Amino acid sequence: MKICVLPGDGIGPEIVGQAVRVLEALRQDGIKLEMETALLGGCAVDAAGDPYPEATRKLARAADAVLLGAVGGPQYDVLPREQRPERGLLGIRKDLGLFANLRPALLYPELANASSLKPEVVAGLDILIVRELTGDIYFGEPRGIAVRNGEKVGVNTMIYAESEIRRIARVALEAARKRGRKLCSVDKMNVLECTQLWRDVVTDEAKQYPDVELSHMLVDNAAMQLVRNPKQFDVMVTGNMFGDILSDEASMLTGSIGMLPSASLDEKGKGLYEPIHGSAPDIAGKGVANPLATILSTAMMLRYTFNQETAAARIEAAVKKVLQQGLRTGDIFEPGMRQVGTKEMGDAVIAAL
Ligand code: IPM
Ligand code: MG
Repeated sequence: MKICVLPGDGIGPEIVGQAVRVLEALRQDGIKLEMETALLGGCAVDAAGDPYPEATRKLARAADAVLLGAVGGPQYDVLPREQRPERGLLGIRKDLGLFANLRPALLYPELANASSLKPEVVAGLDILIVRELTGDIYFGEPRGIAVRNGEKVGVNTMIYAESEIRRIARVALEAARKRGRKLCSVDKMNVLECTQLWRDVVTDEAKQYPDVELSHMLVDNAAMQLVRNPKQFDVMVTGNMFGDILSDEASMLTGSIGMLPSASLDEKGKGLYEPIHGSAPDIAGKGVANPLATILSTAMMLRYTFNQETAAARIEAAVKKVLQQGLRTGDIFEPGMRQVGTKEMGDAVIAAL
């Protein structure tokens, strides 16, 4: 199993360091992993002038899976757009054809008080957001800042091909089939033609899945329902931009964005695995970042790319155990618990494994 490791920027190297230790611990059980590290994001701009350099592209293409920390930082905000760290992330997603982004929002009962919502609203929460990741307004052309009628205009294009909608609908319907058999598709069909097509194609594809109950919701309502009554959802499927926003919102239901892993998959099961949070420059280098989302991302990797369900479940159980033991990084800390740093949290997960 070849894994390309991309620590990235900010807290990336710290949290990925712990996730790599967890994977290494599995080696002792005979799981054969090969890991090689490369640069992506701001660190790659610093070293090679390109957020997704050729050497990284080669390694990522040859690997079976990619483990990513996070990219970005305020020092890069002044760079031209093609050199921004985020371009590296969008570049690798597109280059590897990682169109299916799975973002589970799962509430650990131990963290019910860490959520900003009432415990009874979020207790037992288990949502999967399926976000389309290589299309939509993120990649649509034309784009840019131009001059029209003597003033500047900013332009982006929301566009989806039927085939792009159909393949992400299929991923979401399959996922729903393995869970609570409910799928809610989110769009803005009352205003945007692009998402009228989205709704039509999802509806059509769902005919092949009579066992899955399909519903549709407008994105503004979905944003509201997520904080009003999040437990009504099982699987949600939506486009790139709405998915970006709704998945951050859903993460807070679970108490901390520091807990949520993600998988970005191509048609064949190759994947990039990363925490859904960012590079957190304010706490970078301090050894306090929560490594659990990245560690949980390795569990998703073992499950989705390598079909190692047992090892994946073991990592998840180990994370649950350290939470039960009362260990907390600062982002999920509450009085009465034991506050630990990044490395200590990693140590505890490995011990629990
Ligand atoms: C995410 C991030 C990225 C996105 C940024 C960093 C480009 O917010 O993975 O959700 O918008 O997709
Ligand atoms: Mg985002």
